Amino acid sequence: MNLILLGAPGAGKGTQAEVICNAKGIPAISTGNILREAVKNGTPCGLEAKSYMESGALVPDEVVIGILKDRIAQDDCKNGFILDGFPRTVPQAEALDKMGITIDKVIEIYVPDKKIAQRLSGRRVCEGCGNSYHVDFKPTKVEGVCDACGAKVVIRKDDEPATVLDRLKVYHEKTAPLRDFYSAQGKLTTVIGQEEVSDTSRLTLEALEA
Ligand code: AP5
Repeated sequence: MNLILLGAPGAGKGTQAEVICNAKGIPAISTGNILREAVKNGTPCGLEAKSYMESGALVPDEVVIGILKDRIAQDDCKNGFILDGFPRTVPQAEALDKMGITIDKVIEIYVPDKKIAQRLSGRRVCEGCGNSYHVDFKPTKVEGVCDACGAKVVIRKDDEPATVLDRLKVYHEKTAPLRDFYSAQGKLTTVIGQEEVSDTSRLTLEALEA
């Protein structure tokens, strides 16, 4: 099963990707995580992506499409995958078609813009493994320490309030048109993001089975 998770920044795509990955045994691929790792390691791709990411802009299509193509060619993707944060533009969606990838379902997690700021101001991410938490909704067991690997959890640079507004603007301009793109193919299901992570997870897993 090849899946896409669509949604605004902070809607909970990464959180639900992890849930589906555990339930279905297929890998979750986050282009954001791959890019952040490249920035951390100072690779040529990371150096190119850094300023776009820090300002809340999208990294150029050709860079991200190349990254995605390499990732889904890996062995663990042969029984399916969950795309979190890709595609983000119509040309990226068209690139998937050109690669001969059939998408089975697209799940949009809808959260109104006014709730996004609250979600992102409380988000903390692990410096080591990239796991994501929330100070109120999904806290770490020990404050400031990742449950999975024990490294420090920090605030993501692009979660500054002003950058969040820019990311939302980019989402509405460049990514929201993908709703029509996949709706026209009969593949889109919208899940309303709930207050509790577990409630959104239940609705997301139900949408997968529908
Ligand atoms: P990326 O990392 O993909 O960021 P994003 O799409 O903005 O999404 P986020 O990771 O911020 O949020 P999410 O929806 O995964 O929410 P999460 O589950 O963490 O991209 C970052 C940057 O990389 C982009 O700006 C761009 O520059 C570049 N990039 C990446 N892909 C690209 C592409 N394809 N093309 C071009 N550029 C690209 O949840 C958020 C918080 O809310 C967490 O703290 C979580 O614990 C909490 N939460 C989740 N669910 C709930 C709930 N139900 N109730 C309460 N809290 C909840």
